[in-house]
Order: sequence, then structure tokens, then C-alpha cells
Amino acid sequence: MPADQRPVTFPSELISLLRGTLPHSGTLRHHSAQALKLVALTGAGVSQESGLRTFRDAQVGLWAQYKPEDLASPQAFRRDPKLIWDWYAWRREAVKAVRPNAGHYALADLEKRVSEFTLVTQNVDGLHRMAGSNNVLELHGNIQRVRCSECYTFAETWDDDAGSVPLCKLCGGLLRPDVVWFGEALPREQLEAAVEAARTCDVFFSIGTSGVVQPAASLAHAARNRGAVVVEINAEPTPLTPKANYAFHGKSGEILPELVKAVWNL
Ligand code: OAD
Repeated sequence: MPADQRPVTFPSELISLLRGTLPHSGTLRHHSAQALKLVALTGAGVSQESGLRTFRDAQVGLWAQYKPEDLASPQAFRRDPKLIWDWYAWRREAVKAVRPNAGHYALADLEKRVSEFTLVTQNVDGLHRMAGSNNVLELHGNIQRVRCSECYTFAETWDDDAGSVPLCKLCGGLLRPDVVWFGEALPREQLEAAVEAARTCDVFFSIGTSGVVQPAASLAHAARNRGAVVVEINAEPTPLTPKANYAFHGKSGEILPELVKAVWNL
């Protein structure tokens, strides 16, 4: 059997910790599964098995000539709003065509099994909610929402075939996707809630993210510095790997369901 198809073995301490039968020695915050606080930070890798390319692999065909920064920044939008609108319209259609995968469903399942679970995502595809996750913080916005670039009013409908960027019905400003671009601030409430969750959790999962984009990447370190156990699940090693207590390399759509099964005997 090839190495990448071997079933993952989870250390018994991790299983006991997630079951709530092993108080975490770093913090002793919880004494049972009912009181266990988990945070999961997810990135584009989690949606890869749904058929969505990861952020840094997304540019194909017509879009291959651009760097992410050339398509996802306020400067790029000012320079060529139609190009950026078309790129997001293309991505919006790609997202509409896909469904959550086993990894999304395993995270929704996890949320039901522990007392506090916060899912912090950098993904803008909305697949976590579609899979049934409730406590989701979307740090980079949501690609299905469209808002005015001037007055911030959300648009319910717009004409994608007008040949130019649709305009806000209220102020006439250009419409844009409600996602965070390079150089823009993250939504404050979502970020503050994510930092607080990371600083007070018992176990922090970092899943399918390259861990190179701040401030999301710093959440794992904030959790670690406060005594949480850090678990990484990624297709390959990342800058976080040497700092993680446990690192599992493989597909999140396979590892996460296996983990839920191993912990709760499903
Ligand atoms: P990246 O594209 O940087 O990284 C995706 C990560 O997922 C990589 O580390 C892969 O090894 C891993 N991966 C790929 N397939 C996987 C699978 N099936 N299972 C597990 N892991 C897998 O995406 P992000 O880290 O999400 O921000 O990128 C973070 C942010 O960078 C994006 O939200 C975007 C970009 O700048 C903004 O647009 C503001």
C-alpha cells in the first residue's frame, strides 16, 4: 500500500484528551469532554477535495498570468475593476458548483461533541456552514456576498452580463465581492473573537492552511503560548509543523473523519 494511503494512527494521549478523559497538563482547563474548548483554523486545503483549487493554485487558464496580489487588492481593483470583478465572478460560479467534503462534515460533527467549538476559517466559499457548522468566524469574508466599494451597502441582485462592473443602486459606487483583499483590515469583530477563542482553548487545530498569511497564522502561536495543544493536519509540512504538538500529513477529508471515528468510536 503506498505510504499516502496508510490509515493514520492517532496517539492515545490525543484521543484521551479529545474524549475528555485526560486533563490537559498545560492548562488543566477542562475535566471532561463537556468542558473541552476546541478551535479549528481552516484554509483552502480543506476545500481542495470539494474540487476548489487552493488559493495559491487557483490561477489557471486565462488567470495563470496573474499573481494573487494582482487580483486581490484594492489597488488592483482601482486599476482595472472589470478584470477583478470578472475574476471573482468566475470564482463565485466555481464555488456554486461544489459541495462540502468529508472533512467539512467531520468538523461539523466535532462541533456537536464538545462543549465549545469555534471554527475560524480563511475560506470565503461558505462550505463549512453548508456542511452544518454553526459557530463559524469568516476572517476573509464570503465570496457570495457583494457590497458597494464606496458606501458598504450589500447588494442582493446585480447584472453579471452588463459588460461593465455593476453599480450600487444606492450611491452609484462600484460593486465588489465582500472578501478581504491584500492590504485590507480583517473584520474586527470576527478577528477579536478568533483571537479570544485561540487564547482560551485547550486544543487548537490548524487544517489545510499554509500558515503564511497573517494575522490568521499567528492564532496557532497565540494558542500554543497560552498552553493549548496544537494539532496540524495538512497535505505537507508547513512553518507551523515544528511547533505543533501533533502533525498529521495527508488529506483533511480523510484524516478528520478518521480522527472523529477514533475518538468517538463512530
Ligand atoms: P494556501 O493555498 O496558501 O495553502 C493551502 C494549504 O492546504 C497548503 O499548505 C497545502 O499543503 C494544503 N492542502 C492542500 N490540499 C490539502 C488537503 N486535501 N488536505 C489538507 N491540506 C491540504 O491557502 P490558505 O492557507 O488558506 O487570503 O491561504 C490563506 C490566505 O492566503 C487566503 O485566505 C487568502 C490568501 O492570501 C486572502 O485572500 C486575504
